[in-house]
Amino acid sequence: MQTVVSGIRPTGNLHLGNYFGAVKSFIKMQEEYNCFFFIADWHSLTTHPHPDNLRNNVKTILCEYLACGVDPEKATIYVQSDVKQIPELYLYLNMNAYIGELERVTSFKEKVRQNPNNVNAGLLTYPTLMCADIIIHHADKVPVGKDQEQNMEMARHFASRFNQIYGVEYFKEPESFYFNQKAVKVPGLDGSGKMGKSEGNAIYLCDDEATIRKKVMKAVTDAGPTQMNQEKPEAIRNLFTLMEIVSEPSTYDYFNDQYNNMAIRYGDMKKQLAADINAFCAPIRERILEYQANDEFLQKVANMGAEKACASAQKTLEDVREIIGFHR
Ligand code: AMP
Ligand code: TRP
Repeated sequence: MQTVVSGIRPTGNLHLGNYFGAVKSFIKMQEEYNCFFFIADWHSLTTHPHPDNLRNNVKTILCEYLACGVDPEKATIYVQSDVKQIPELYLYLNMNAYIGELERVTSFKEKVRQNPNNVNAGLLTYPTLMCADIIIHHADKVPVGKDQEQNMEMARHFASRFNQIYGVEYFKEPESFYFNQKAVKVPGLDGSGKMGKSEGNAIYLCDDEATIRKKVMKAVTDAGPTQMNQEKPEAIRNLFTLMEIVSEPSTYDYFNDQYNNMAIRYGDMKKQLAADINAFCAPIRERILEYQANDEFLQKVANMGAEKACASAQKTLEDVREIIGFHR
């Protein structure tokens, strides 16, 4: 059976981008693959070195995974920092990762630009830690959104470089997995780029109906099309992309036709989109609250996950130490 690994950093609540970029695949893949889904708390320190409440942030993501339908009986759900073998593999990978290639990673350059006062070594080596997460369980497939393409490319490089340097065929090169074959980028509704926590434009799975409506109604639009079947400007395209992801195809087709016939009323479209997002989030929102109140169960899930993930990681580390040539 093929193995799947993926993680999300606990730096806030899960949003629609996380869901449709990654978590939706988790739910599908747990039925057919040997899955490891984790909470990347070490990674969160690269951008949040002094987290207010790491324990609580981790609990939040755990509840949200479960509320979305990630099933601890089918998948191994664990917290990255419970698996102490990961930093050892990270150390070995760092010895064969070059500053130049790490400095060229787009997300690194982006973070440097956003936060020039915190260009730390952890941020630079984010891709080697991510590679360690993945290859420690010999993952074949990694469900992620489009923004992780370059990190995945690096993971493949580091895996094959390990083999090359030590003259073995040990690690396989993991491939990205996208739910509908194509890389997903869920757009934000502020007229630009992707939906994200740090972009401040996210609609969260736990948002209540009024919050969802407020966020959607605020979305950037224009004065409307001036020609039949004209190409949509970016902000409008984003609104449609989100509708395509969340709503029924017939709803999308209806508003798309309205646009093409120059009869579109953005207010109506937004009301419909807000209602569809709310219908999607409402049951998840309820389950999040139920899990939040059940510390004992959450602890059990995390313990069970840690045990399985550590067993898998330990086996890899024993091989790796042997391959590199440590005395045992
Ligand atoms: P992050 O919240 O940045 O830790 O991302 C966790 C996972 O969600 C990764 O697999 C990302 O690729 C995915 N993701 C985050 N934002 C988006 C988005 N706007 N569209 C698609 N996938 C996303
Ligand atoms: N880099 C991913 C992100 O931003 C999180 C992550 C860390 C991850 N380690 C991973 C994803 C391993 C997949 C596999 O969101």
